[in-house]
Amino acid sequence: MMVKQPGKRPNLLMNKTVDKVGNRTVKFGIIGGGLMGREAASAFGRWFVLNNFHVKAALVAVCDLNPSILEWYKQLDSVKLLTSDYHELLQYDVDVVYVAVPHHLHEQIYIDVLRAGKDLLAEKPFGKDLAAAENIYKVSQETGRFVRCSSEFPFLPGAQKAIKKYNEGGFGKILEIKSGFLHSSDLDPDKPINWKRQAAFCGEIGVMGDLGLHALHVPLRLGLRPLNVYAQLQKIYTHRPDGKGGLAVCDTWDNAMLCCKVDIAGEKVPMTIETKRMAPTETNTWFIQILGTDGGVSYSTKEPKTFYEFQKNGEQSWLKTDLGFNSVIPTITGGIFEPGFPDCFLQMLAAFVAEREGFLNGRFGCATAEEALLSHRLFDAALRSDKEKTVITI
Ligand SMILES: NC(=O)c1ccc[n+]([C@@H]2O[C@H](COP(=O)([O-])OP(=O)(O)OC[C@H]3O[C@@H](n4cnc5c(N)ncnc54)[C@H](O)[C@@H]3O)[C@@H](O)[C@H]2O)c1
Repeated sequence: MMVKQPGKRPNLLMNKTVDKVGNRTVKFGIIGGGLMGREAASAFGRWFVLNNFHVKAALVAVCDLNPSILEWYKQLDSVKLLTSDYHELLQYDVDVVYVAVPHHLHEQIYIDVLRAGKDLLAEKPFGKDLAAAENIYKVSQETGRFVRCSSEFPFLPGAQKAIKKYNEGGFGKILEIKSGFLHSSDLDPDKPINWKRQAAFCGEIGVMGDLGLHALHVPLRLGLRPLNVYAQLQKIYTHRPDGKGGLAVCDTWDNAMLCCKVDIAGEKVPMTIETKRMAPTETNTWFIQILGTDGGVSYSTKEPKTFYEFQKNGEQSWLKTDLGFNSVIPTITGGIFEPGFPDCFLQMLAAFVAEREGFLNGRFGCATAEEALLSHRLFDAALRSDKEKTVITI
């Protein structure tokens, strides 16, 4: 195990110690080993749960500025390079880099990854603002690298079933689409500030950047692109403890309700995208509901294995189905058990690898760079809508 300091070149021979199991191993590096870096590391550690998945993924290199974070990765045998300089990691023998750093660093690091000739699994929101997202997108096109952006909830069976039912049709005239992602831990005013609550690091878009792509991934994949938006944005607590006995300014949007219109077969249909850090009782609740005159679907991670279908047979009713784990990428336990956050995150990583290797075969894939860019167009329009108190055409 090497712990590299900035300026020292890594020993490129080290990667030869990576075990090859199966036909091929995709070598991953992580830049930003914090919350999500460690979630990804745990997913790589469970790769064997994927059934007959002929490509392995190995985490071989990690970069973080925080020595205690790097220390955590020492327990992983596959990791051969630990460094505090991401340029060192980009010189290392990795195929793909997963980048999970604060939003103000996305643009520079994503572009450096692409220019270093690596493929990129980006974290949302894909830059702190529209200009950054456009720049990253431009470089992704120029370099031709494989780029996808993290959004894992659509890989849950309930989300997949909603997508399948919508694509099968039979909903009649679509009345409305509601998609959202809700949190509540910020309701505690004594929760100390962190970078996610400061515009300088998180971006002016605030909660939309944090949660918005999660809520938009499915609608965009279904072709439901917002044509316009009227946004209601809220800043609720303006100061939080700074962790040093004082108070720090908390200047990002906490809650965002985006009222959009989408075009479905020539009709303008309302779609709401709801992202909230202060939604009482909601702990990481991702949901989607699509209702039509004749049918519809509703799924929320609040009831993670319960899927609702609106039915109209004389009476109107919800058909309630218990879901197993019929995942996008089959797993060893098939449909027997129910999935959670780590499972959909692993599914997302597996879909990334399958698509990159050319065997996704029409199954649901990760959010594309274009979808991430489209989400920023909406967030940018939402900022303008809130400022001007008007509907903004996108
Ligand atoms: N997909 C999801 O469900 C999900 C959930 C939470 C966060 N995220 C996203 O993941 C990203 C990271 O969020 P997080 O919650 O893991 O944050 P975090 O603060 O827990 O981790 C970020 C890490 O980046 C490191 N870092 C900062 N600057 C760096 C640099 N120059 N080089 C290397 N490392 C550096 C920090 O030391 C920290 O360990 C963000 O884009 C966030 O929006 C995604």
